[in-house]
Amino acid sequence: MKEINMNETDIKKLAERALSAREKAYAPYSMFRVGAALLAKSGNIYEGCNIENAAYTPTNCAERTAFFKAVSEGECEFTAIAVAGGAQSAAVKDFCPPCGVCRQVMMEFCNPQEFQIILAQSRENYRIFTLEELLPMGFGPDHIA
Ligand code: THU
Repeated sequence: MKEINMNETDIKKLAERALSAREKAYAPYSMFRVGAALLAKSGNIYEGCNIENAAYTPTNCAERTAFFKAVSEGECEFTAIAVAGGAQSAAVKDFCPPCGVCRQVMMEFCNPQEFQIILAQSRENYRIFTLEELLPMGFGPDHIA
């Protein structure tokens, strides 16, 4: 786990937004609801939830929903993302790490040594990792430049 370089109020606010985004999850198949809140360098926050599909594979994770919303609005630089996920029937009780596909999408837009991934169980209870910690030696835009 890396040293936190956002202030505690910002972290808690982002965690809260991820928990609130989770309420919008469309997850009738897995019943696993995930919310994400993505902080752009501009200061704007983009929320996302998982959106499942009867054909299963078109399912989109909460993190990617947040990224795609942001990028489609013209944001391409990001500071941090908070993620909160857990079974539908319960409050969030575990840390929900981003899947590999979402980590790769983060790699496209974020500096792996700086981008902070906040895994939130609640406003008070969270763990923070850099993208590099969760995706070591990630393949990114620099590799094909
Ligand atoms: N899910 C996310 O939204 N984010 C993750 O990082 C892990 C998985 C969603 C996808 C699917 O709708 C459900 O959680 C169960 O895998």
